[in-house]
Amino acid sequence: MRRSIIAGNWKMHGSREAVAGFCKALRGARLGAELDVLVFPPVAYLGQFVDGVRNTGVAAGAQDLHPAAQGAHTGGVSGAMIAELGGRWALTGHSERRSEHGESDALVAAKFGAALSAGLRPILCVGETLAQRQSGEAESFVARQVQTVIEAVGVDGLARGAVAYEPIWAIGTGETAAPGQAAGMHRLIRETIAASDAALAESIRVIYGGSVSPHNAAELFSEPEVDGGLIGGASLQVQSFLAIVAAAV
Ligand code: 13P
Repeated sequence: MRRSIIAGNWKMHGSREAVAGFCKALRGARLGAELDVLVFPPVAYLGQFVDGVRNTGVAAGAQDLHPAAQGAHTGGVSGAMIAELGGRWALTGHSERRSEHGESDALVAAKFGAALSAGLRPILCVGETLAQRQSGEAESFVARQVQTVIEAVGVDGLARGAVAYEPIWAIGTGETAAPGQAAGMHRLIRETIAASDAALAESIRVIYGGSVSPHNAAELFSEPEVDGGLIGGASLQVQSFLAIVAAAV
């Protein structure tokens, strides 16, 4: 039985006040015993968030990182800087990074490796567009996204992280993948990994993201292939985030 992950990705939302309120609501709740509860606030608030959730069992991470350890990279934030702020995880290859910032599979793989080098646990985000799904290219597209990371960091590297399947057509649209659709792609991701390491294919956590809400979370998480969720909009309010955590326990 794989340990579930419930991760909130706040994207570019938040304020010092909102972080303080969220952390206050989490304090006292002991959340990390049965599953990994993670929050990815904007990096500007990562330090505040980490301080605010101390002893709650909730861990935090960054939504992105620079592939280099340091250097002349204006605006960049390195894995070591994230770790020093108390971040333990990093998202890599979120579809909004890929589409808004032109991140290629190779760059995403470099970021995954940089997160590992900094001692962070990377979550590789993959997922197809609606057009790719309709033209039957979704599986080969997602398989290549996974394969590029395996080639860059090896199966031992991938094993230190997790994978999030986030179909682009389901992100922020209110249109969730049917549990069977999610399960089918999670199985494809495992088959891709199995070509390199059959044991890792079964042990790695593959979580689902895309319009997860308190209303659909339990049904999605009841799929044995779905090891939890990466939650955008519904993670911004602490009560709906906690309802989704409860659905995974
Ligand atoms: P929504 O839950 O808002 O669809 O966002 C999903 C997502 O992109 C999480 O990383």
